Parts: sequence; structure tokens; C-alpha cells
Amino acid sequence: MSAAVEVAPSILAADFACLGDAIRAVERGGASLLHVDVMDGHFVPNISIGVPVVASLRKATRLQLDVHLMIENPEEYIEAFAKAGADMISVHQEATPHLDRALAMIRDHSCKPGAVINPATPVMMLSEVLGKVDHVLVMSVNPGFGGQAFLPEATEKIRELREIRDRHHHSYRIEVDGGIGPENVAAVARAGAEILVAGTSVFHTADPAAAVREMAHLANQALAQKVRKVV
Ligand code: DX5
Ligand code: ZN
Repeated sequence: MSAAVEVAPSILAADFACLGDAIRAVERGGASLLHVDVMDGHFVPNISIGVPVVASLRKATRLQLDVHLMIENPEEYIEAFAKAGADMISVHQEATPHLDRALAMIRDHSCKPGAVINPATPVMMLSEVLGKVDHVLVMSVNPGFGGQAFLPEATEKIRELREIRDRHHHSYRIEVDGGIGPENVAAVARAGAEILVAGTSVFHTADPAAAVREMAHLANQALAQKVRKVV
């Protein structure tokens, strides 16, 4: 497990007519992940992008594609997203009565499985799958839209997930998504988040590369200070 905190730019906030430029910018900023939000207009009240866009992204970049499925019946689409080139696929606990099966399908298609919880869902709803996931995604907004305000309750869930991981020797990475920006990256990194999804705070700036670099720097600096204090 890498100790460094990474920023995963969310292309939902990018100009869809210029995704190639957006990718190039965040690559320059040192990103190694690209967060891809898939919405179906049912599980969340918005429609975004689907399998063909993931396939095009795959051809355009070597960044890890972190596909966040905000869709009903996610099991029906896992194979298609895996074949399109996803590296990580996350499914919502709230979206399927068969979370364990969905995670197994993701693993069987050689992708890294992740479980996501909405703001109203407690961490304990994932207790049976925490030993089987590559990452846990904590929503810090109600999913469906970019540009919403960070819900501070997410920080406590991140802390809880880190404590559970330590106690049970699990290996999942902790990811946080929604309302992330330079003002809160230090706090979520100190709490234990290792992948920070950021849309608006990356792509709605004049210099997305600098925004990625700055947030990664602030998060890793906060972590280093914390480690120094403990030692
Ligand atoms: C929200 C999506 C997020 C979104 C984050 O439903 O899952 O990934 O793109 O956008 P910002 O960073 O603008 O809150
Ligand atoms: Zn997302």
C-alpha cells in the first residue's frame, strides 16, 4: 500500500468536448488516476457518460481509470466497463442487494473492486465486504452532481474506516468524493483518505495541472506533519 495521498481528477467537471486536453493537463499535474462518474438518471437524478467514453479514455491515456458506477443493476454493466478498459470499478452499497456478487464480478474481470457509501449509509453496512475490496469510497456529497459542498460527517467515516482497517489488518485504500478542494484536503488526508476525488476544484480553475499538484502537495504535507507528531 502506498503511503502517498493521490488526487483523482473527476472528468465530470471537465469540458466533454475537450477531454483529451483535460487528460493531458492532469497528467502534467502528476495525477495517476482519472475518476469517471457514470450516472443513469435512476440511481442518481442525473445522466452522465457510459461505456463508449471509458473506451475512448482508455485509448487516450495510461492513467488508471477509476470508474464510479452510480447506476441501478450495476452487475449488468460490470463486464462492459471492464472490457472498455476500467482499472478500478466501484459500486454503491445502496444500488444492489448483491454487493458481494458485484464485487466478485469486478475481481473476476481483473479490475480492482470498490464499495461506495452515500452520506446516509453507515460504514458498518460494508462490514462483511471490507476484507474483499481494493478501495472504499466515502461520498462526501449526495451523488449526482459536481460542485456541491463537502459534508463534514464524511471525515469521521474515513477515520472509522482507517481504524477498522488497522484493527482487522485489511488492505483497502480509502477514497473520498465530493466537495474536495485545497481547503479540506489536509483534513481528509489526516483522517486517512488516500485517494481524493476532485472535479470542480481541478477543472474549474485556470490551471488544472497546478490544481492537482497543489492539492496533492497539501495533502501529503499534512500527512508528513502528522507522522512527525506521532514519532
Ligand atoms: C458526484 C460525483 C463526483 C463529482 C465530484 O456524484 O461522484 O465524483 O464529480 O465533483 P466535485 O469535486 O465538484 O464535488
Ligand atoms: Zn464520483
